[in-house]
Amino acid sequence: MPTLIGRHFYLGLGLVQRYNAAMKKIVILISGRGSNMQAIALAAKEQQWPAQIVAVISNRADAAGLEFAASLGIPTALVISKDFATREAFDAALQAEIDRYSPDLVVLAGFMRILTAPFVEHYAGRMMNIHPSLLPSFTGLATHQQALDAGVKMHGVTVHFVTAQLDHGPIIDQAVVRVLQNDTEESLSARLLSHEHLIYPRAVRWFVEGKLTVKGNCVHVDADLTDNIEN
Ligand code: GRF
Repeated sequence: MPTLIGRHFYLGLGLVQRYNAAMKKIVILISGRGSNMQAIALAAKEQQWPAQIVAVISNRADAAGLEFAASLGIPTALVISKDFATREAFDAALQAEIDRYSPDLVVLAGFMRILTAPFVEHYAGRMMNIHPSLLPSFTGLATHQQALDAGVKMHGVTVHFVTAQLDHGPIIDQAVVRVLQNDTEESLSARLLSHEHLIYPRAVRWFVEGKLTVKGNCVHVDADLTDNIEN
């Protein structure tokens, strides 16, 4: 049984968060709106996960999600990508900032950067991403337009562990929506976002509760996959 330290942290806006020594530490990286980060932070708090969001880090000063994180009392930090001459230099600075918090898990939530292999290796097995397509289809950008152009009838979103190959890596969970006759990039994106906000927090929770086992490219989830979320 984990030992309760019994410390209380008094956070912004009078919120109180209690944690114990066995709590998993999560760092979330964002570049913009941060709605997935919000969903994860709120689920962690409301469902009392054995985890604490120890920092939200952005590569852009204007990322709207920073304000929400601060309002929850989550420490925020900036590592501004455009201040660095090379991808390697940025990733090294970002890694140094992340590692100040000794996270068990790094969560990419709309973090719009291609990461270098050494950075990815450093967080092997403990870095997750959400990608707005049914991987392995439609990697890269403009995934909803790619789906429309391909004429697929089902589209979706994927939570996966991050590996050096962009938008690959062992798949943790997926959600699907039907592509409708009059769908646009915007309508597909909006419909999928509500699914993102369900499956991403759930996947992060599985990780912190030790329910994920990776064998090769496959992730075994030790949970009831028929619970509560209608895909
Ligand atoms: C989401 O659609 C996610 O799938 C993609 O980027 C978007 C980020 O949205 N990787 P938000 O910043 O979490 O609101």
